[in-house]
Amino acid sequence: MTIRLNKIVQAIPQVETLCDVGCDHGYIGIGAWEMGKARRVIFMDISAPSLQKAQNNCANVQMNNCQFVCQDGIQSVVCDCAVIAGMGGLETISILQNTTRPPKFLVLQPMRNQMDVRKYLLSNGYKLTLDVKFQDVKYYDLMVAELSAEQMELSPFQLKFGFTNLASPSQDFVNFLLEEQRKYTQILTQCRDTEVAEKLSDTNLALEHIGGQQ
Ligand SMILES: C[S@@+](CC[C@H](N)C(=O)[O-])C[C@H]1O[C@@H](n2cnc3c(N)ncnc32)[C@H](O)[C@@H]1O
Repeated sequence: MTIRLNKIVQAIPQVETLCDVGCDHGYIGIGAWEMGKARRVIFMDISAPSLQKAQNNCANVQMNNCQFVCQDGIQSVVCDCAVIAGMGGLETISILQNTTRPPKFLVLQPMRNQMDVRKYLLSNGYKLTLDVKFQDVKYYDLMVAELSAEQMELSPFQLKFGFTNLASPSQDFVNFLLEEQRKYTQILTQCRDTEVAEKLSDTNLALEHIGGQQ
C-alpha cells in the first residue's frame, strides 16, 4: 500500500458501515476492513470496470460483508463514514451535495480546491477534526470531518492552509511551504504576476506563523 493510501486508511474512524466512494481498486475499503475499522464496506464507483477491480481484489483477500454499487456518488446509500479520495474538490462537493443522508464521518482527500471543500463542510453541519498536508512524492491534503451541532469557525488563513497544519505543523507541511516559496520567488524573478505575488505573500505569512509556533 502506498503512503497516501495508508494515511487515508489510518484516518478512518471505527465504524459499522463504511462507504468507499470512487473506490476504483478498492484498496481503501479493503485496508479499513483488514484493520478492523469497519464491519461492513460498501464499494462504490461510477465506472463498472473500476468497480470490477474492487470486486476482484476483495475476492483475492476473501473479504466478506461487502457490497458493490455502481452509481454516481452516495445518493441515498446510508453509511456511518464515507471516504472520498483522489477526486477533485469540486467533484467531492458535488457528491456530498447529492447525498440524502449525510454520513456522521467523512474522510476526504481532495486533489484540488481544498479551500472550497473546507468552506462546504463548515457551512453544511460538519466540523473538521483533522486537516493535514502530507507527502507521498507529491503533496496531498487529508481531512476528517464529523457532523456537529456546533458551528466551527475558521479564519481565512485556516481555510487556506488547514487548521491542523497551522496549529501543529508537520515537517511535510514545512517542506511544502518552503517549496512553494522557492517556486513563487523563482517565477517572480522572471515576470510580475499579482496572483503569484499574493501566493508568495500568503506562503511567507504561513511560514512566519508556524515559525512562531516552534
Ligand atoms: C483517481 S480514482 C481514486 C481511487 C481511490 N479512491 C484512491 O484514492 O486511490 C477516482 C475514482 O472515482 C471514480 N469516480 C469519479 N467520479 C465519481 C462519482 N461521481 N461517483 C462515484 N465514483 C466516481 C472514478 O471512476 C475512479 O474510479
